Amino acid sequence: MKQIKIFDTTLRDGEQSPGCSMNLKEKIEMAKQLERLNIDVMEAGFAASSPGDFKSVKTIAETMKNCTVASLARALPGDIDKAYEAVKGAVSPRIHTFIATSPIHMQYKLQMNPDAVIDSAEAMVKYAKKYVSNIEFSAEDATRSDVEFLAKIFDKVIKAGATTINIPDTVGYTTPDEYYNFIMALRDRCPALDKVDISVHCHNDLGLAVANSLAAVRAGATQVECTVNGIGERAGNASLEEIVMALRTRKDLYKAETRIVTTEIMRTSKLLSRITGVKVQPNKAIVGENAFAHEAGIHQDGVLKNKETYEIMTPESIGITEKSLVLGKHSGKAALKARIQELGYEVTNEELEEAFVKFKDLADKKKQVYDSDIEAIVTKSNIQIPQTFKLDRFVINSGNTITSTANVAVIKNGKRIEKVAVGDGPIDAAFHAIEKIVGRKLHLEDYKLSSNTDGKDALGDATVAISEEGKKNSTTKGRGLSTDVIEASLIAYINAVNKMIYEEESHKEMN
Ligand code: KIV
Ligand code: ZN
Repeated sequence: MKQIKIFDTTLRDGEQSPGCSMNLKEKIEMAKQLERLNIDVMEAGFAASSPGDFKSVKTIAETMKNCTVASLARALPGDIDKAYEAVKGAVSPRIHTFIATSPIHMQYKLQMNPDAVIDSAEAMVKYAKKYVSNIEFSAEDATRSDVEFLAKIFDKVIKAGATTINIPDTVGYTTPDEYYNFIMALRDRCPALDKVDISVHCHNDLGLAVANSLAAVRAGATQVECTVNGIGERAGNASLEEIVMALRTRKDLYKAETRIVTTEIMRTSKLLSRITGVKVQPNKAIVGENAFAHEAGIHQDGVLKNKETYEIMTPESIGITEKSLVLGKHSGKAALKARIQELGYEVTNEELEEAFVKFKDLADKKKQVYDSDIEAIVTKSNIQIPQTFKLDRFVINSGNTITSTANVAVIKNGKRIEKVAVGDGPIDAAFHAIEKIVGRKLHLEDYKLSSNTDGKDALGDATVAISEEGKKNSTTKGRGLSTDVIEASLIAYINAVNKMIYEEESHKEMN
């Protein structure tokens, strides 16, 4: 079996896509879960792009124990210096440097001639080599580049010390057959490629990112770059879970395997959705809500007789367990801790205390507490940011013949602040009351409400995105869970406000 390295770029290419930005605490939480998933390389960010990115790459590099941590860097000395400063504390640091190689990118974007691009790539790989031995070189827009030119540049950067060569389909333009032939042609023209890792990085503009990556594995690629849930620029990147499960399910064809702990896939996908508020479509392969649901009578009948009639992989293999009643209101802290550990989470004593309070509160309101409720509690308490404002109580008056009014009280620095506001419906009124309390002009960009389990007593799961009027890039997202949907919405709104304040404070600290 050939070993395929999984290079995860959820925290870099994924995070830079609209609606998927994460703050430092969220990135660390995601990074820890990616490590549990057992990825080989984690691209933690683009250190030179902002002080915030630098700090997150550095913190992640110093936290991870079992994977290589990479920072992206343009082929510029300043970027490489920053990348090194950020990853040098990692157990296994990597610098990932790139330059565009297609005629259109070289002429219009870089305004450099091809010889200058080769010189720069070679010089920057040598420059990075003085810092670390593990260097990845990417030829941006490789699939629209000239094959002879690429072979020449790859030969030079391998001699200069690159240990991984990435051949990205930056604009999602290629097709499986073409990509396969392209990689074979490159290996033919540049035999040195067989001495390093060949990596592929496919975007999904034509919906072919996974198919192209798999064709590349057949052509000799030993590393695949991908993201959880396929998030990423424009139509996204190749999805990690689809690549891993395709290789596993069709081992007979690809004769290749990964080190991924597949039973962590579902949890990783859900964590990312929780953090970003971006849910996957129900029919998404592997992690969609319907991926293992059999609706048609003929299918159900077949599955009951023999699962393999319609199931090519088991739900258990990606970590889907039977929805089970786990704990009740009489369960103690030890039972909660044991269940949390069985679900694969680590909590500190302080986090356990916090989770226990929430669990008791929930068990009082709900008859049945499921694994997904416990996961919701735990992930929420893990990614806790300072609670500048905390919901105290609220009263809402609403109906179809009156104007909705909300009276909301919050606690800030031990003091209660209470405001009344009207609005177009109970949620609008409640949000206006918080806006008055916070004293900022806030704009509601997005609001979603769903339930986290089936049944009447499911938790209401609210996500809110807000921005501050006149402030660019101020969007933050919040999440709230409660058996009461208005309470869930208020918690989500307050959570988004607290994140806004936390991010402003972090920026002040960094500048
Ligand atoms: O899509 C792309 O080409 C990239 C590179 C920087 C690897 O993200
Ligand atoms: Zn990319």
